[in-house]
Amino acid sequence: MEYQNLVIGQDGECLVVTINREKALNALNRQTMEELRCFFGEDLPARQGIRGVVLTGAGERAFVAGADIKEFQEVKAGQGAELARRGHDIFFLIERSTVPVVAAVNGFALGGGCELAMACHLRIAGEGAKFGQPEVNLGIIPGYGGTQRLIQYIGKTKAMELLLTADMIGAEEALRLGLVNAVVPAGEEVAAAKALLGKIAAKGPVAVSKIIASVNAFFDKSKDGFDEEVEAFGVTTRTNDFIEGAAAFVEKRKPVFTGS
Ligand code: CAA
Repeated sequence: MEYQNLVIGQDGECLVVTINREKALNALNRQTMEELRCFFGEDLPARQGIRGVVLTGAGERAFVAGADIKEFQEVKAGQGAELARRGHDIFFLIERSTVPVVAAVNGFALGGGCELAMACHLRIAGEGAKFGQPEVNLGIIPGYGGTQRLIQYIGKTKAMELLLTADMIGAEEALRLGLVNAVVPAGEEVAAAKALLGKIAAKGPVAVSKIIASVNAFFDKSKDGFDEEVEAFGVTTRTNDFIEGAAAFVEKRKPVFTGS
Protein backbone atom coordinates (compact mmCIF):
# COMPACT_ATOMS: atom_id res chain seq x y z
CA MET A 1 0.00 0.00 0.00
CA GLU A 2 1.11 3.57 -0.67
CA TYR A 3 1.26 5.19 2.74
CA GLN A 4 -0.08 8.74 3.03
CA ASN A 5 0.08 9.20 6.79
CA LEU A 6 2.85 6.82 7.82
CA VAL A 7 6.51 7.38 7.11
CA ILE A 8 8.55 4.19 7.32
CA GLY A 9 12.29 4.48 7.85
CA GLN A 10 14.88 1.77 8.39
CA ASP A 11 17.96 1.81 10.59
CA GLY A 12 19.71 -1.55 10.35
CA GLU A 13 17.36 -4.21 11.69
CA CYS A 14 14.98 -1.61 13.14
CA LEU A 15 12.07 0.13 11.43
CA VAL A 16 10.90 3.56 12.56
CA VAL A 17 7.24 4.22 11.80
CA THR A 18 6.18 7.85 12.14
CA ILE A 19 2.54 8.89 12.16
CA ASN A 20 2.70 11.99 10.02
CA ARG A 21 -0.32 14.27 10.55
CA GLU A 22 1.44 16.95 12.51
CA LYS A 23 -1.19 19.66 11.91
CA ALA A 24 -3.83 17.45 13.55
CA LEU A 25 -1.41 16.39 16.29
CA ASN A 26 -1.18 13.02 14.52
CA ALA A 27 -4.80 12.15 15.30
CA LEU A 28 -5.85 8.71 14.11
CA ASN A 29 -8.25 9.16 11.23
CA ARG A 30 -9.67 6.25 9.23
CA GLN A 31 -6.85 6.39 6.67
CA THR A 32 -4.16 6.27 9.36
CA MET A 33 -5.86 3.35 11.08
CA GLU A 34 -6.02 1.48 7.76
CA GLU A 35 -2.33 2.18 7.19
CA LEU A 36 -1.47 0.87 10.67
CA ARG A 37 -3.52 -2.26 9.87
CA CYS A 38 -1.67 -2.70 6.61
CA PHE A 39 1.76 -2.13 8.15
CA PHE A 40 1.38 -4.38 11.20
CA GLY A 41 -0.90 -6.95 9.53
CA GLU A 42 0.77 -7.32 6.14
CA ASP A 43 4.01 -5.42 5.56
CA LEU A 44 5.85 -6.13 8.80
CA PRO A 45 5.13 -9.91 8.86
CA ALA A 46 6.37 -10.12 5.25
CA ARG A 47 9.70 -8.39 5.95
CA GLN A 48 12.68 -10.58 6.75
CA GLY A 49 15.37 -9.68 9.27
CA ILE A 50 13.53 -6.92 11.14
CA ARG A 51 14.18 -7.18 14.87
CA GLY A 52 12.11 -4.28 16.17
CA VAL A 53 9.82 -1.36 15.38
CA VAL A 54 9.77 2.14 16.86
CA LEU A 55 6.40 3.87 16.62
CA THR A 56 6.35 7.64 17.02
CA GLY A 57 4.55 10.83 15.98
CA ALA A 58 5.72 13.62 13.69
CA GLY A 59 6.78 16.93 15.24
CA GLU A 60 7.52 17.90 18.78
CA ARG A 61 4.02 18.34 20.16
CA ALA A 62 2.33 14.98 19.96
CA PHE A 63 2.77 11.26 19.72
CA VAL A 64 -0.94 10.96 18.88
CA ALA A 65 -3.68 13.24 20.32
CA GLY A 66 -6.34 10.55 19.94
CA ALA A 67 -8.82 9.34 17.42
CA ASP A 68 -9.72 12.06 14.91
CA ILE A 69 -12.57 13.89 16.62
CA LYS A 70 -13.57 15.76 13.47
CA GLU A 71 -14.08 12.46 11.67
CA PHE A 72 -15.92 11.08 14.71
CA GLN A 73 -18.58 13.72 14.13
CA GLU A 74 -19.49 11.88 10.92
CA VAL A 75 -19.97 8.54 12.65
CA LYS A 76 -23.60 7.57 12.39
CA ALA A 77 -25.62 6.11 15.21
CA GLY A 78 -25.07 2.37 15.27
CA GLN A 79 -21.55 2.51 13.74
CA GLY A 80 -19.65 3.08 16.98
CA ALA A 81 -19.27 -0.54 18.06
CA GLU A 82 -18.01 -1.51 14.61
CA LEU A 83 -15.46 1.32 14.76
CA ALA A 84 -14.22 0.19 18.17
CA ARG A 85 -14.02 -3.46 17.07
CA ARG A 86 -11.92 -2.48 14.08
CA GLY A 87 -9.62 -0.41 16.32
CA HIS A 88 -9.25 -3.35 18.70
CA ASP A 89 -8.33 -5.70 15.85
CA ILE A 90 -5.66 -3.29 14.61
CA PHE A 91 -4.17 -2.71 18.07
CA PHE A 92 -4.14 -6.49 18.68
CA LEU A 93 -1.95 -6.80 15.57
CA ILE A 94 0.58 -4.55 17.34
CA GLU A 95 0.29 -6.25 20.71
CA ARG A 96 0.67 -9.69 19.10
CA SER A 97 3.51 -8.69 16.78
CA THR A 98 6.31 -11.26 16.91
CA VAL A 99 8.91 -8.48 16.79
CA PRO A 100 8.94 -6.00 19.68
CA VAL A 101 7.31 -2.62 19.13
CA VAL A 102 8.43 0.37 21.22
CA ALA A 103 6.38 3.57 21.41
CA ALA A 104 8.57 6.69 21.43
CA VAL A 105 6.15 9.14 23.04
CA ASN A 106 7.12 12.66 22.03
CA GLY A 107 4.33 14.82 23.49
CA PHE A 108 0.60 14.21 23.87
CA ALA A 109 -0.53 10.58 24.01
CA LEU A 110 -4.24 11.08 24.57
CA GLY A 111 -7.27 8.89 24.00
CA GLY A 112 -6.51 6.60 21.06
CA GLY A 113 -2.90 7.84 21.29
CA CYS A 114 -2.50 6.58 24.83
CA GLU A 115 -4.24 3.37 23.75
CA LEU A 116 -1.84 3.01 20.83
CA ALA A 117 1.17 3.47 23.10
CA MET A 118 -0.27 0.88 25.49
CA ALA A 119 -0.69 -1.66 22.66
CA CYS A 120 3.08 -1.44 22.10
CA HIS A 121 5.34 -3.76 24.11
CA LEU A 122 7.45 -0.99 25.65
CA ARG A 123 7.15 2.79 25.99
CA ILE A 124 9.83 5.50 26.13
CA ALA A 125 8.52 8.95 27.08
CA GLY A 126 10.11 12.31 26.42
CA GLU A 127 10.20 14.66 29.41
CA GLY A 128 7.28 16.72 28.11
CA ALA A 129 5.03 13.76 27.28
CA LYS A 130 1.47 13.81 28.58
CA PHE A 131 -0.76 10.78 28.87
CA GLY A 132 -4.50 10.63 29.38
CA GLN A 133 -7.84 9.16 28.40
CA PRO A 134 -9.97 12.31 27.94
CA GLU A 135 -12.84 10.58 26.09
CA VAL A 136 -15.25 11.18 28.95
CA ASN A 137 -14.93 14.92 28.16
CA LEU A 138 -16.53 14.12 24.80
CA GLY A 139 -19.29 12.03 26.34
CA ILE A 140 -17.80 8.75 25.13
CA ILE A 141 -15.49 6.11 26.57
CA PRO A 142 -12.12 4.89 25.26
CA GLY A 143 -12.82 2.65 22.29
CA TYR A 144 -9.42 1.24 21.37
CA GLY A 145 -8.74 -0.82 24.50
CA GLY A 146 -8.10 1.95 27.04
CA THR A 147 -10.42 0.68 29.75
CA GLN A 148 -8.68 -2.69 29.65
CA ARG A 149 -5.00 -1.94 29.09
CA LEU A 150 -4.69 1.02 31.45
CA ILE A 151 -5.65 -1.31 34.33
CA GLN A 152 -2.99 -3.79 33.23
CA TYR A 153 -0.27 -1.16 33.56
CA ILE A 154 -1.28 1.04 36.50
CA GLY A 155 -3.92 -0.94 38.42
CA LYS A 156 -7.65 -0.41 38.91
CA THR A 157 -7.50 2.42 41.46
CA LYS A 158 -5.50 4.88 39.39
CA ALA A 159 -6.94 3.68 36.07
CA MET A 160 -10.48 4.32 37.30
CA GLU A 161 -9.46 7.82 38.44
CA LEU A 162 -7.80 8.78 35.14
CA LEU A 163 -10.63 7.34 33.05
CA LEU A 164 -13.37 9.05 35.07
CA THR A 165 -11.69 12.44 35.51
CA ALA A 166 -9.92 12.67 32.11
CA ASP A 167 -6.90 14.05 34.01
CA MET A 168 -3.59 14.01 32.16
CA ILE A 169 -0.37 12.81 33.75
CA GLY A 170 3.19 13.81 32.87
CA ALA A 171 6.08 11.56 31.94
CA GLU A 172 7.53 11.25 35.46
CA GLU A 173 4.16 10.29 36.91
CA ALA A 174 3.69 7.78 34.08
CA LEU A 175 7.06 6.28 34.99
CA ARG A 176 6.19 6.15 38.69
CA LEU A 177 2.88 4.41 37.91
CA GLY A 178 4.48 1.85 35.56
CA LEU A 179 2.91 3.15 32.36
CA VAL A 180 6.27 3.80 30.71
CA ASN A 181 9.65 2.09 30.86
CA ALA A 182 11.83 5.19 30.85
CA VAL A 183 11.81 8.98 30.57
CA VAL A 184 14.44 10.68 28.42
CA PRO A 185 15.11 14.31 27.43
CA ALA A 186 12.67 15.59 24.81
CA GLY A 187 13.91 14.80 21.33
CA GLU A 188 15.77 11.67 22.42
CA GLU A 189 12.76 9.32 22.49
CA VAL A 190 13.43 7.62 19.15
CA ALA A 191 17.15 7.18 19.84
CA ALA A 192 16.38 5.68 23.26
CA ALA A 193 13.77 3.36 21.75
CA LYS A 194 16.26 2.22 19.12
CA ALA A 195 18.88 1.58 21.80
CA LEU A 196 16.40 -0.55 23.75
CA LEU A 197 15.52 -2.51 20.63
CA GLY A 198 19.23 -2.91 19.85
CA LYS A 199 19.67 -4.68 23.16
CA ILE A 200 16.75 -7.01 22.41
CA ALA A 201 17.97 -7.59 18.84
CA ALA A 202 21.03 -9.37 20.25
CA LYS A 203 18.78 -12.07 21.79
CA GLY A 204 17.25 -15.09 20.09
CA PRO A 205 14.36 -13.87 17.89
CA VAL A 206 12.22 -16.95 18.49
CA ALA A 207 12.66 -16.57 22.26
CA VAL A 208 11.75 -12.88 22.00
CA SER A 209 8.55 -13.65 20.09
CA LYS A 210 7.61 -16.42 22.53
CA ILE A 211 8.14 -14.13 25.54
CA ILE A 212 5.74 -11.63 23.96
CA ALA A 213 3.17 -14.36 23.32
CA SER A 214 3.49 -15.84 26.83
CA VAL A 215 3.18 -12.48 28.58
CA ASN A 216 0.17 -11.58 26.42
CA ALA A 217 -1.44 -14.91 27.35
CA PHE A 218 -1.71 -13.78 30.99
CA PHE A 219 -4.23 -11.15 29.89
CA ASP A 220 -6.07 -13.33 27.36
CA LYS A 221 -9.09 -14.90 29.01
CA SER A 222 -9.26 -17.60 26.32
CA LYS A 223 -5.78 -18.87 27.25
CA ASP A 224 -3.94 -20.42 30.17
CA GLY A 225 -0.69 -18.48 30.44
CA PHE A 226 1.15 -21.33 32.14
CA ASP A 227 0.14 -23.74 29.34
CA GLU A 228 1.22 -21.13 26.80
CA GLU A 229 4.60 -20.88 28.51
CA VAL A 230 5.06 -24.66 28.50
CA GLU A 231 4.34 -24.84 24.77
CA ALA A 232 6.50 -21.81 24.01
CA PHE A 233 9.40 -23.16 26.07
CA GLY A 234 9.12 -26.41 24.10
CA VAL A 235 9.37 -24.49 20.84
CA THR A 236 12.44 -22.52 21.95
CA THR A 237 14.26 -25.68 23.07
CA ARG A 238 13.92 -27.05 19.54
CA THR A 239 15.64 -24.06 17.88
CA ASN A 240 19.16 -23.82 16.50
CA ASP A 241 19.42 -20.66 18.56
CA PHE A 242 19.14 -22.70 21.77
CA ILE A 243 21.98 -24.97 20.59
CA GLU A 244 24.00 -21.85 19.75
CA GLY A 245 23.11 -20.02 22.99
CA ALA A 246 24.10 -22.94 25.20
CA ALA A 247 27.28 -23.62 23.20
CA ALA A 248 28.29 -19.95 23.38
CA PHE A 249 27.81 -19.98 27.14
CA VAL A 250 30.00 -23.07 27.57
CA GLU A 251 32.63 -21.71 25.17
CA LYS A 252 32.57 -18.30 26.92
CA ARG A 253 31.75 -16.31 23.76
CA LYS A 254 28.88 -14.19 22.50
CA PRO A 255 26.13 -16.18 20.75
CA VAL A 256 25.26 -15.51 17.12
CA PHE A 257 21.53 -16.07 16.79
CA THR A 258 19.87 -16.66 13.44
CA GLY A 259 16.21 -16.86 14.39
CA SER A 260 15.97 -20.51 13.39
N1 CAA B 1 -8.73 14.90 16.48
C1 CAA B 1 -8.72 15.80 15.47
N2 CAA B 1 -7.98 16.92 15.52
C2 CAA B 1 -7.24 17.14 16.62
C3 CAA B 1 -7.23 16.27 17.70
C4 CAA B 1 -8.01 15.08 17.60
N3 CAA B 1 -8.01 14.14 18.56
N4 CAA B 1 -6.41 16.76 18.66
C5 CAA B 1 -5.95 17.93 18.18
N5 CAA B 1 -6.44 18.15 16.95
C6 CAA B 1 -6.19 19.32 16.09
C7 CAA B 1 -6.95 20.53 16.57
O1 CAA B 1 -8.30 20.51 16.12
C8 CAA B 1 -6.14 21.64 15.94
O2 CAA B 1 -6.47 21.73 14.58
P1 CAA B 1 -6.90 23.17 13.94
O3 CAA B 1 -5.64 24.00 14.04
O4 CAA B 1 -7.29 22.83 12.55
O5 CAA B 1 -8.00 23.69 14.80
C9 CAA B 1 -4.70 21.10 16.02
O6 CAA B 1 -4.83 19.68 16.17
C10 CAA B 1 -3.93 21.62 17.22
O7 CAA B 1 -4.67 21.36 18.38
P2 CAA B 1 -5.08 22.49 19.46
O8 CAA B 1 -5.20 23.80 18.77
O9 CAA B 1 -6.26 21.99 20.21
O10 CAA B 1 -3.78 22.50 20.35
P3 CAA B 1 -3.69 22.85 21.92
O11 CAA B 1 -2.25 22.96 22.22
O12 CAA B 1 -4.56 24.01 22.24
O13 CAA B 1 -4.29 21.58 22.66
C11 CAA B 1 -4.63 19.21 23.07
C12 CAA B 1 -3.67 20.30 22.54
C13 CAA B 1 -4.79 19.37 24.58
C14 CAA B 1 -3.98 17.87 22.75
C15 CAA B 1 -5.99 19.37 22.36
O14 CAA B 1 -5.77 19.42 20.96
C16 CAA B 1 -6.96 18.26 22.65
O15 CAA B 1 -7.55 18.23 23.70
N6 CAA B 1 -7.13 17.32 21.68
C17 CAA B 1 -8.11 16.27 21.80
C18 CAA B 1 -7.65 15.20 22.76
C19 CAA B 1 -8.74 14.15 22.89
O16 CAA B 1 -9.82 14.41 23.36
N7 CAA B 1 -8.42 12.90 22.48
C20 CAA B 1 -9.35 11.82 22.52
C21 CAA B 1 -10.07 11.67 21.21
S1 CAA B 1 -11.38 10.48 21.25
C22 CAA B 1 -10.63 8.98 21.20
O17 CAA B 1 -9.43 8.86 21.10
C23 CAA B 1 -11.56 7.81 21.27
C24 CAA B 1 -10.92 6.48 21.32
O18 CAA B 1 -10.56 5.98 22.34
C25 CAA B 1 -10.80 5.71 20.09
